Amino acid sequence: LEQRFWRTAVSDVQRNRIAIRGYPIQELIAHRTFGDVVHLVFTGELPEGNEGVMIEAILVAMVDHGLVAPSAAATYVAASAGIPLQAAIGAGILALGDYHGGAIEPCAKLIAQGLEDCADTGQMEEVARAIVAEAVSAGERIPGYGHRVHTDDPRAKELLRVASDLGVRGRATALALAIERVLQENSRLTLNIDGVIAALMLDMGFDWRLGKAFYIIARSVGLAAHAVDQMRQKPLNAPLPEDIEYTGPPERHLSRPPDVGRDVS
Ligand SMILES: CC(C)(COP(=O)(O)OP(=O)(O)OC[C@H]1O[C@@H](n2cnc3c(N)ncnc32)[C@H](O)[C@@H]1OP(=O)(O)O)[C@@H](O)C(=O)NCCC(=O)NCCS
Repeated sequence: LEQRFWRTAVSDVQRNRIAIRGYPIQELIAHRTFGDVVHLVFTGELPEGNEGVMIEAILVAMVDHGLVAPSAAATYVAASAGIPLQAAIGAGILALGDYHGGAIEPCAKLIAQGLEDCADTGQMEEVARAIVAEAVSAGERIPGYGHRVHTDDPRAKELLRVASDLGVRGRATALALAIERVLQENSRLTLNIDGVIAALMLDMGFDWRLGKAFYIIARSVGLAAHAVDQMRQKPLNAPLPEDIEYTGPPERHLSRPPDVGRDVS
């Protein structure tokens, strides 16, 4: 058979026929939830257990975190410039970084690598200690721990409880909590929402590279709401001069007027 220019294993779209990983879209619409289909699209198979329910709980947990989240603040400010909805949402997504929303991926990678070093569960604490020791000696923060606002994030605990009830907690979550125990010997750092999602996505069999995808899928809902909220305000809710504290030098003047247009030849 002649090889085509593009090859994809995700979906097959022909005239009047749409199949996602082989399943006709009508069957998915009629019989499956969004969580189930996210699992199908990401892993290639429908969940055999409660993974679809867990995915939906994660998406609910991540749906919005107010304007204190830099991504929502970026969307809100961008929308005040009168740009289209997709550009305002894009501004928020582009604000995901090391300190906000961007920790799921590196945390999942760290835990996935750690699990490779855990031949059996007995070694988990040893591996957790090695991960913390390495971060301390490099002066680095461990992604997935600590929070700028919460000391006891209600989302993180509830997701762990739901994961236990649904039977989707596994070795990755155990290692993430072992790292938390080691960190708490010398600090009050807790596993944050990004860290919990990182661990659960590994326990559900997802590639760590999909970390930011969970954030983007869920938070796009909140970002769209903040953008439209801004667009409906009259006047737009943007900072005024009195909202801004200037910290540069006080007003000063050139020693003489600039010689604009002077002939220097
Ligand atoms: C989220 C985060 C930015 C919050 O920062 P913060 O509340 O301002 O915390 P601080 O910068 O005040 O840090 C307090 C102390 O804990 C340490 N610390 C904070 N998070 C840490 C982490 N994840 N690993 C190791 N040490 C950490 C800091 O180095 C600091 O130590 P110091 O006082 O000796 O300098 C920070 O915890 C972090 O960078 N975490 C890792 C990235 C992450 O998970 N981001 C997603 C958040 S949902």
